Amino acid sequence: MKVGILGSGAVAKALGKGFLAHGHEPMLGTRDRARLEGWLAENPGSTAGSFADAARFGELLVLAVKGTAAADALRAAGAANLAGKPVIDATNPIADAPPVNGVLKFFTTLDESLMERLQREFPDARLVKAFNSVGNASMVSPAFTGGKPTMFICGSDEGAKKTVTGILDRFGWETADMGAVEAARAIEPLCMLWCIPGFLRQDWVHAFKLLR
Ligand SMILES: NC(=O)c1ccc[n+]([C@@H]2O[C@H](COP(=O)([O-])OP(=O)(O)OC[C@H]3O[C@@H](n4cnc5c(N)ncnc54)[C@H](OP(=O)(O)O)[C@@H]3O)[C@@H](O)[C@H]2O)c1
Repeated sequence: MKVGILGSGAVAKALGKGFLAHGHEPMLGTRDRARLEGWLAENPGSTAGSFADAARFGELLVLAVKGTAAADALRAAGAANLAGKPVIDATNPIADAPPVNGVLKFFTTLDESLMERLQREFPDARLVKAFNSVGNASMVSPAFTGGKPTMFICGSDEGAKKTVTGILDRFGWETADMGAVEAARAIEPLCMLWCIPGFLRQDWVHAFKLLR
């Protein structure tokens, strides 16, 4: 599958590498292709272009940009290039203000998530929240002594969630589908919880598991 990844940071690179390892063709999107030269050389088979190039290229898209820039990145990608495609939304609405006692500040509220805002502006993109509640080092083939971790996902398009669940299966995750786009109000703050041990104790190696 051709995968257009909007972003050039740690998440875009980790997922790009993962898609490549699983036989997919990733293209990373950035405003500055030069910053990816080294990574592209180390990951033959991957390519890079503008946000619009990556969105046009992908049959499946990934949004992996700074939360405050998510809407701008999708605007630059172009609504027509997003239309009808599953879009994995890995972003978190982290505000520019510093964390307080290890607790990140969000620019959203508990009644309106970032993904809802994005879905409203781009109604034809089939957004699925995923990969936002774990560090980039564990996104592909997570290895924990406690067993296979759970990725919480949500989105209003069942077909898109099925596609993303297939990817998560292959990347080594168990998927918990929390329902429609509004569930992002609960899934995005998992990022706050995930980061607290990191900010307080430099403990960045963990993931969530849903027990039944
Ligand atoms: N880091 C993690 O382990 C982790 C884990 C889970 C979720 N997340 C979430 O995943 C997203 C990506 O995180 P990251 O750490 O990989 O990278 P990041 O530093 O949060 O974001 C880097 C990306 O944001 C883009 N960007 C920044 N300002 C922009 C603007 N004004 N307009 C358009 N694009 C802009 C950059 O574009 P250019 O390429 O053009 O510079 C770059 O691609 C974030 O929302 C983060 O909260 C991160």
